Amino acid sequence: MNTVFRRKCHFVYPLEFLVTFLDDFAAVVALSDKMLTGFFVGWPTPPSPKVLSKLIRNSTYSIVAIDEAQDRCVGYVTALSDGILFGYVSSLEVLPEFQGQGIGQDLVARMLKKLSNVYAVDIVCDPDVQPFYEKCGLRRCASMVTRNPAQIAKLNSGLD
Ligand SMILES: CC(C)(COP(=O)(O)OP(=O)(O)OC[C@H]1O[C@@H](n2cnc3c(N)ncnc32)[C@H](O)[C@@H]1OP(=O)(O)O)[C@@H](O)C(=O)NCCC(=O)NCCS
Repeated sequence: MNTVFRRKCHFVYPLEFLVTFLDDFAAVVALSDKMLTGFFVGWPTPPSPKVLSKLIRNSTYSIVAIDEAQDRCVGYVTALSDGILFGYVSSLEVLPEFQGQGIGQDLVARMLKKLSNVYAVDIVCDPDVQPFYEKCGLRRCASMVTRNPAQIAKLNSGLD
């Protein structure tokens, strides 16, 4: 279903920007790599825009926030789901200069709505982000993880 939401946000400067939330597959697939720059802030090996583009396309659900004036993606959320019992919000990010405007909370709310057909929705995050997710209506829970950083470099070189 093609659902396009438009919402006006106000930047910290006396400058207004319009953020459009897109979640239909055609629109998400049409995003250029150029529109997906600036993400993975602070990562030792940041995935390239091409890798992010593939991640967004391959996820079960993806929602992107677009700053129309700059024709640029300023935030995204992705999720994986079996459509039965379990959904997993796999990534969420808002560009630093657009944070603190409610975009992150909006992206999570929209994704939780998409995942409302499953029993459990899980998100793994660092402790400093837990208060944010609590504001989104989630509760704290222990988790176990493993990571393979070499895979990022492999993807970056393989998809460039
Ligand atoms: C976490 C993140 C997505 C939040 O996006 P955002 O657009 O800045 O968040 P919002 O403006 O929607 O914030 C909603 C509320 O959460 C609060 N909040 C946001 N980030 C927070 C944090 N790290 N700790 C505590 N509270 C936070 C805001 O102050 C706001 O509270 P308010 O409603 O009382 O004003 C963003 O900071 C980000 O991209 N961080 C880097 C990547 C990351 O950590 N992603 C999560 C991976 S699991």
